[in-house]
Amino acid sequence: MEHATDELKSKGFSTRAVHAGNVEDVMTGGVNTPIFPSSAYRVPGPLGEVVYPRYQNIPTQRAVAEKIAALEGGESALVVSSGMAAISSVFLAFCAPGDHVVLQRDLYGGTHHLAARELPRLGVETTWVPSQDPEDFEAALGPATRILYLETPSNPLMKILDLEALARVARRRGVLTVVDNTFATPVNQNPLALGIDIVVHSGTKYLNGHSDLCCGAIVTRRDLMERIYGVVAAYGPSLSPYDCYLLERGMKTLAVRMRQHNENGAKIAAFLDGHPRVRQVYYPGLANHPGHHIAALQMRAFGAMLSFEPDCDTATAQVVMERLRFFKPAVSLGGVESLACFPAQTSHAPLSPEERLALGISDSLIRLSVGIEDPEDLMEDLDQALAAIG
Ligand SMILES: Cc1ncc(COP(=O)(O)O)c(C=O)c1O
Repeated sequence: MEHATDELKSKGFSTRAVHAGNVEDVMTGGVNTPIFPSSAYRVPGPLGEVVYPRYQNIPTQRAVAEKIAALEGGESALVVSSGMAAISSVFLAFCAPGDHVVLQRDLYGGTHHLAARELPRLGVETTWVPSQDPEDFEAALGPATRILYLETPSNPLMKILDLEALARVARRRGVLTVVDNTFATPVNQNPLALGIDIVVHSGTKYLNGHSDLCCGAIVTRRDLMERIYGVVAAYGPSLSPYDCYLLERGMKTLAVRMRQHNENGAKIAAFLDGHPRVRQVYYPGLANHPGHHIAALQMRAFGAMLSFEPDCDTATAQVVMERLRFFKPAVSLGGVESLACFPAQTSHAPLSPEERLALGISDSLIRLSVGIEDPEDLMEDLDQALAAIG
């Protein structure tokens, strides 16, 4: 039995995570949404529409999109083949040559690369705002600005933006706001409820949560989605039904996973903050984080992403990394297992050394994606690795 989305609207997050979008198998009574692998469907079909994977209307695709919409509190969602497909589809939907986009300077390296190298090739101009002050963002908006693009907490220094204030500023000027909600997840933050127009996700991360899938998602109002849908159908970054199934399965446990992620993130941040071999910790849940006040207002919890500067040179930081046992030295984030990386070598490698320096990303900065293991084991692991610093 499919639960009507309206019936679920008043229900709690975990209930929506389990039930929203779910389609029972009418042939067998199986409780999970079946994987519909066909790429060829009879015309006319039972619903009178042409069904095709690139049109995003296979039931397995629709089920997971409906779940994401229910969790973000949006009217409509689409799932695509990566987080970057979600982000680039939004730019392609609303920007044309001569248009202008304003972005925060602190962004995931791939998004930075897209905006710095690819958008100009399409004749779209960009302005980067180096601060978190809404007035600076407002000053950057011009008559040709179409999109204000934001990420909070940002990758990798966890900078926090006041989403309500920025949504107000942009709406006054007729500019669409887009927020990458990958780090926060809908468990910790709902940008649409704060007035933001479009939410994008790298579903590769927490939404799926098991580091075995690459996917993305877009959530927004129906009228805006029509434009985005046109781009997705035309350029074709659809998500296979097999991957949709995995994503839907992963999302059913999002709330319980995030409970443990949030608890572990806070514990590890406090542990590192008090560690004699750590120079600085970047975690919005710490009272000494410059964005803590805003984060406490707009987030329900602070997540499990954090970065820190070990009190040593780059070569020794490399040894710290090599000594870690539970934190695997891997790119990506948001899975049940803890990961560690040097953003300068991974997420922000596409940037030049000068660009990284301007962002405050040193070669020894270590980013942690704290998993759901027992926090005591993770702290012990970090402690023995940091002992490499003499
Ligand atoms: C915050 C953020 N947004 C977007 C992306 C891009 O996602 P994907 O790798 O699924 O394309 C990433 C990838 O690391 C990310 O960290």
